[in-house]
Amino acid sequence: MLVEMRSLTKHFGITQAVNDFTVTLPDGELVSLLGPSGCGKSTVLNMLAGILKPTSGQVLFDGEDVTGLPPERRGIGLVFQNYALYPHMTVLNNISFPLEIQKVPRAERMARAKAMADMVHVGNLLNRRPRELSGGQQQRVAIARALVKNPQLLLLDEPLSNLDARLRLEMREEIRRIQQKTQVTTVFVTHDQEEAMSISDHIALMKDGYLQQYDTPQELYNDPDNQFVADFLGSPPINHLTGTLLGSVFTLTDNSASFPLPLPAEGVPEGKELILAIRAESAEAAGQGEAHFTAQVKQVYTMGKEELAYLMVGTQEMRAYIDLDQGITPGITLPIRLKPRGVFLFDQVTGVRYQ
Ligand SMILES: Nc1ncnc2c1ncn2[C@@H]1O[C@H](COP(=O)(O)OP(=O)(O)O)[C@@H](O)[C@H]1O
Ligand SMILES: [Mg+2]
Repeated sequence: MLVEMRSLTKHFGITQAVNDFTVTLPDGELVSLLGPSGCGKSTVLNMLAGILKPTSGQVLFDGEDVTGLPPERRGIGLVFQNYALYPHMTVLNNISFPLEIQKVPRAERMARAKAMADMVHVGNLLNRRPRELSGGQQQRVAIARALVKNPQLLLLDEPLSNLDARLRLEMREEIRRIQQKTQVTTVFVTHDQEEAMSISDHIALMKDGYLQQYDTPQELYNDPDNQFVADFLGSPPINHLTGTLLGSVFTLTDNSASFPLPLPAEGVPEGKELILAIRAESAEAAGQGEAHFTAQVKQVYTMGKEELAYLMVGTQEMRAYIDLDQGITPGITLPIRLKPRGVFLFDQVTGVRYQ
């Protein structure tokens, strides 16, 4: 189902939780609402669900305005962070309960609930009660219960937040598998950028109730509209070198280093406070005559298969994944080349990107 949100706005008294939020979810996609805690993700989700009435704006399902419809008439499945399974009911009865409410005949109810339990891989646990299940198993049951009515739209609000790190990883792959199998249009709320990046077709990144960018994970990462987007995605976080531009020369804020800016910067006013943002994988040891600037190697770390170098450019620190086989050790001066990808220039005050 195609889902359109048009200028959705929700104010709680003086709190402007969501402002002018316009996003279209293509049919059959998994779209994440991503952003820091309090940015308005759950408020958007609850307006999609019909749990919250927008202050203004519309929600359309396949072109039909559903803004005024109550949740039970929207054909949605909901899963929250706390699974809210019925503790006294078995797995099978938990999953089939929504069908009981719909007065689906018992035999059909049981067949559909069993099929759904198999799909989320809890078919061997049908007679257990929730307390006899692990967190991941409980969340599978909650997803099966949300899907058993064949919803047109599946809404998941931080469904993995209560799980430990390993299980979170496993369950996010499961959610992707289940979503691709059912092809149900899905909205997945998370504050975890890695989670969103790994499972989404599109991501709507929010801050303070405003949409920052709506794009594929790749586009968000490689072509951020502003500094907030660049900062929010990626680990380790993108590096910042602060400075100003004079002609085509970038000079660090305290004059501790300067070098020709290695990317186009049209329309940047001279003397404007800027951030040259560089992803850790976008800087490498330069060959002869290839250097954009030099850096002092401060420290090197090996973390699993990755080798991270802490570098000083003038007085400013940056981190880079650098091939340590080349005898790179603390104390040496290293010529650095920046790759074309993952290097951006932002206005330090407004976060606007220059390109
Ligand atoms: N029922 C409510 N009453 C008043 N303020 C609310 C209510 N629900 C959410 N808010 C506020 O709206 C903002 C967005 O909240 P929310 O959508 O829950 O954020 P998120 O899910 O991104 O963490 C926050 O400032 C929150 O405190
Ligand atoms: Mg929330």
